[in-house]
Amino acid sequence: MRICVVGGGGREHGLAVALARHAEVVVTPGNPGIPGSVPTPPEDIDADLFVVGPEVPLVEGLADRLRAQGRLVFGPGADGAQVEGSKAYMKELAAHADLPTARFGAFDEVEPALAFLRTLPGLYVVKTDGLAAGKGVFVTESLAEAEDDVRDKLSGATFGGAGRRVVIEEGLRGPEVSVFAVCDGTDAVVLPPAQDFKRLADGDAGPNTGGVGAWSPLPFVDDDFAAGIADRFIGPTLWALRDRGIDYRGALYAGLMVTAEGPKLIEYNIRFGDPDSQVVLLRATSDLGALLAEAAAGRITTEPTFSDDAAVLVVAMAEGYPGPTRTGDAIAGLDAARSVPGVEVLCAGVAAGDDGGLVTAGGRVLDVVGRGATVGEARDGAYAALAELSWPGLHHRTDIASEEGAGRPARSG
Ligand code: AMP
Ligand code: GLY
Repeated sequence: MRICVVGGGGREHGLAVALARHAEVVVTPGNPGIPGSVPTPPEDIDADLFVVGPEVPLVEGLADRLRAQGRLVFGPGADGAQVEGSKAYMKELAAHADLPTARFGAFDEVEPALAFLRTLPGLYVVKTDGLAAGKGVFVTESLAEAEDDVRDKLSGATFGGAGRRVVIEEGLRGPEVSVFAVCDGTDAVVLPPAQDFKRLADGDAGPNTGGVGAWSPLPFVDDDFAAGIADRFIGPTLWALRDRGIDYRGALYAGLMVTAEGPKLIEYNIRFGDPDSQVVLLRATSDLGALLAEAAAGRITTEPTFSDDAAVLVVAMAEGYPGPTRTGDAIAGLDAARSVPGVEVLCAGVAAGDDGGLVTAGGRVLDVVGRGATVGEARDGAYAALAELSWPGLHHRTDIASEEGAGRPARSG
């Protein structure tokens, strides 16, 4: 099978590595650090299966355009993509499917938004309704800070158009878990859970990011957890989508908070997580491409299998991330990092340098993934590889998947 992966970040590199174990893979546009990258638009590529990585092309209807050409596509159409494209849509869908989730309201005007905020018990969450690359969410214990954030977002000052409608939520407390479901429109298989480290700094301090570390499997959830999520969340959601006439074939990513009352949905994404899916996909021992092709064709018949090994991913970031980042610095030590046993280095924000090497080109530059029989072994591998890497301003969390960093409740912002 020849598979075309659409996208150009760490997730697509991880997908390419996992899929290439059983298939020929091309990646568009990819990046200079992902083997098989081509600049050709997906519509002009000949492949048996298209796997669309990021949300933006899905929201813009890429899967519909490819399907209209008769291609087999793993990724929802623009109708299903609203689940991520609009937080208000997602919340309405969650209510329709009766999913456990946080109390919320969606507002375009300041006064009703502030009035709702004042009815909440504390730990306030203010989100942009539109896409904001994971950075549009503000979590705080302070009502005054939450009120200021509502005013800033609704005025367009902080997020432009994406913030002109806000979703305000009751804050949930507990460890956060990512669950990825592979959906065929009617049914789904749920992959082993992973955890994403969203805060910039050690001890879950600092601002929210797109994710700066991840690990899987998770020692604090039992074997029945994923099946419970399939029954209580994914199944009802596919039903609610079908009820709206949506045939959802692609990844559905449930971001869950494991609260004292059980798992609650924080958000759905219409794609695999980045970087949290990398630690799951790299653990696959069965033919993932065959599974995604079945889902794309509307009928899953196989169960994927995964290694018991642990995977720990630490993101090597450029100076300034998640704000404006310094780019264009030569990345040193890649070969040495890759020679650490069990380690895979995935290229996210990289570009080609003048001398044929790679330079930094984004906030999240590399995903350093350690694998091992235990979490400790996997983590030691990842950090040993990180120690080989350098560029001016390289930084990373030092507590990914450690006792101090793992499974902690999200802190206030
Ligand atoms: P989202 O973009 O909706 O995934 O939110 C980004 C991050 O903000 C989540 O991963 C959580 O860490 C945090 N967050 C979002 N909603 C809530 C909530 N209701 N309670 C607590 N934290 C939240
Ligand atoms: N790592 C979070 C996301 O992919 O949305």
